[in-house]
Amino acid sequence: MNVCVIGAGYVGLTTSAVLADLGNYVYCVEKDEQKVETLKNGHCPIFEPQLEPLIKTHLKNDRLYFTSNLAKAINDSSIIFIAVGTPTLSDGSTNLSFLESVIEELSSCIHSYKVITTKSTVPIGTNQKIIDELISLGVPSHLFDVVSNPEFLREGSAIQDMLQPDRIVIGGKGNEPIHSIKQLYEPLKAPYLVTSLEGAEMIKYASNAFLATKISFINEMSKICDSYNIDIEKVAEGIGMDPRIGPHFLGAGLGYGGSCFPKDLKALTYLAKQKQIIPYLLEATKTINDQQVEFFIEKLMKTEPDLIDKKITIWGLSFKPNTDDIRESQSIKMIKLLSAKGYHLHVHDPVVNIPLSNTTFYESLYDSIEQSDVLIIATDWELYKQADWSLVSKKMKGNLLFDCRNCILPETISHFGLHYLGVGRL
Ligand code: UDX
Repeated sequence: MNVCVIGAGYVGLTTSAVLADLGNYVYCVEKDEQKVETLKNGHCPIFEPQLEPLIKTHLKNDRLYFTSNLAKAINDSSIIFIAVGTPTLSDGSTNLSFLESVIEELSSCIHSYKVITTKSTVPIGTNQKIIDELISLGVPSHLFDVVSNPEFLREGSAIQDMLQPDRIVIGGKGNEPIHSIKQLYEPLKAPYLVTSLEGAEMIKYASNAFLATKISFINEMSKICDSYNIDIEKVAEGIGMDPRIGPHFLGAGLGYGGSCFPKDLKALTYLAKQKQIIPYLLEATKTINDQQVEFFIEKLMKTEPDLIDKKITIWGLSFKPNTDDIRESQSIKMIKLLSAKGYHLHVHDPVVNIPLSNTTFYESLYDSIEQSDVLIIATDWELYKQADWSLVSKKMKGNLLFDCRNCILPETISHFGLHYLGVGRL
């Protein structure tokens, strides 16, 4: 099939590369000409495992084409994916200006039947508004259908997630558009869930809200475990064995960050309040997450009250491993809070290097801990889990390892004379 994907951001690029991989001809349309040039040359503007090689492969075999020419891409395609950013504003409402301008541009390019598919996460009712808007802009209703097809991929494993989805959610009306989307994803052999436009919009918000709630739940449990000397990892394992709970997203730590959970939780809270519903659970999830970094700093201060003038090293800047995304990164929040308290920090990250006040960045992992009094792990990169602890203990002046992601086994490092501090760990 000929497919057009509008937006070469995170979701748009992954969708384009994977759809090309499934045998389709894909136009990925992006306004930013410089980005289009970079992509045409086979360079991926974001760090995402497997994405760049996939882009290169399908550029070479002419299945993937980057362009800023929307009209031609629309003309040649039967299915159009919209994957533009829908940022949340400070009051929780959603900025739909990118989406609105795409709809306006689209309206003048539709001359034959198209299935317009929204991948972007949008407030309830937005897809219906797209239909109304296209009609009011003069597009005959028989020339298009709108489908909501939310994306559940995770940064750091986006390609794998899209190639092996747990489910494909399709919201819409009528057999023809739903059949087209099913056909497109047929090679993936994934289960489908067909619902209304609003149902699909809500599934996306509810999924992210539930996962965020699971994280805040386990973080609350970890604080209780911490004060009763109970191992939270065993508790998570024990509760996760119940299939009604499941083992995933029970990793206690610094809390969630990233472009989705904080944004979508805020948007869903706003949507609830618009209907006079007080979303107690969503608010508690956010409150717990917001307090998590302060809780960790307090724990550090209780263990090492005299840290001023000492060398503190922080490993990890991205909001999670395998990405260069620092949006809502709990690690950066921690660095800013410690820096505001007057500490000078030494930081390392395998892919992120951004200027932060009161910090010195190190390219080399082991140089970053030279003469350090405390080592804090803020992002659970595999590199850190596999560190040479004998070398770490030799290079450090002090011996405190503060594992804010509970990603190191305490017994692994105790052999090397390092003192382990985690949360809810014995
Ligand atoms: C999330 C959803 O998982 C995905 O389905 C949706 O499409 C986009 O939002 P993403 O934000 O890329 O994906 O990352 P995810 O792996 O979900 O992690 C989000 C945050 O939660 C990270 O900061 C991570 O460190 C944290 N996390 C995750 C925990 O603190 N504990 C866990 O057990 C799991």
